[in-house]
Amino acid sequence: MYGAGKLESRNVKEYETAARYARDCGCADLIDCLLEMAEVEWNHEFYFRSRVLDHALGRRLPLWLQPPPKETIRLTFAGERTTPSAQNQPPKQVRSAQSRRDEMFIAPREQDIS
Ligand SMILES: [Fe+2]
Repeated sequence: MYGAGKLESRNVKEYETAARYARDCGCADLIDCLLEMAEVEWNHEFYFRSRVLDHALGRRLPLWLQPPPKETIRLTFAGERTTPSAQNQPPKQVRSAQSRRDEMFIAPREQDIS
């Protein structure tokens, strides 16, 4: 539980960073999905943190840094300015968020592989 919670905490930051990369390289259609994944990882971190704190031994351990409230994931992102290079990027072909989500999280069918 302890290791999983610490790992999930890092995952939140990694998805936030990925969303910034997506924004900065003109892949705006990926941003919402990546921020959603950051929020999912935030939930996971919260769960594992609470499990560690429920345990008598866990309460005696120094915990990893607690992430800021989940609402700040999107608020912080929205408040940031884009990099100058991102502002000069031509818009990429936009696909629906559902389409991009399917590509990222649904395993390919066997007939698609062969
Ligand atoms: Fe997770």
